[in-house]
Amino acid sequence: MGFKVKDHYFNKAKKEQFLARSVYKLEEIDNKFKILKKHDQVLDLGYYPGSWIQYTHKKVKSVVGVDIKEVNKKLLNLKGVTLLKKDAFEIEDIADLGVETLFDVILSDMAPDTTGIKSVDQDRSLALVEKVFGVMPTFLKKGGNLVIKVFDGNDAQMFLKSNKNLFESFNYFRPKSTRSVSKEFFVVGKGYKG
Ligand SMILES: C[S@@+](CC[C@H](N)C(=O)[O-])C[C@H]1O[C@@H](n2cnc3c(N)ncnc32)[C@H](O)[C@@H]1O
Repeated sequence: MGFKVKDHYFNKAKKEQFLARSVYKLEEIDNKFKILKKHDQVLDLGYYPGSWIQYTHKKVKSVVGVDIKEVNKKLLNLKGVTLLKKDAFEIEDIADLGVETLFDVILSDMAPDTTGIKSVDQDRSLALVEKVFGVMPTFLKKGGNLVIKVFDGNDAQMFLKSNKNLFESFNYFRPKSTRSVSKEFFVVGKGYKG
């Protein structure tokens, strides 16, 4: 992850001292859908290396980042940021994340290690998406927002279709900064019905 593709967004991120070019995806999503607010408590799943944390912590009250990778020490002194080395498949309760109240926003840019075998990669990605939707009732406040990365595929489309009613609005969005070869898009759910 990080600065693999040396394109315009790669150079921009380096210049602006962001840890990954993916920051521009979140920025575009947030500008369009107004996801983050000043008093929010945010959960960022699959945060590493942490460009979304760099962006988010300036806009909200607090953000908890979770990733299977070692904690990125570059981010430890950022105000309102807590980082945890954890597998998303092992978190069941907000107490596992050291907080007492439900989150206002869940962000998930999680992606599995890709094998290059399309069906395997799609299945692994969908398993991550299903996990996030699975914990949502115990993690996300009523009225809360969700941004989640999805790898396109028939099963993913069916899964999303059957869950769209969980939110007041449910949009599919492909930021301009997404690499053209990528099958990913983002789902933006606003107003979780609980
Ligand atoms: C595309 S990167 C995230 C980039 C990040 N949004 C940023 O701006 O720097 C995807 C991350 O998902 C993490 N990930 C994949 N599976 C995970 C799991 N089961 N639990 C937690 N994190 C996971 C990977 O370790 C990887 O760091």
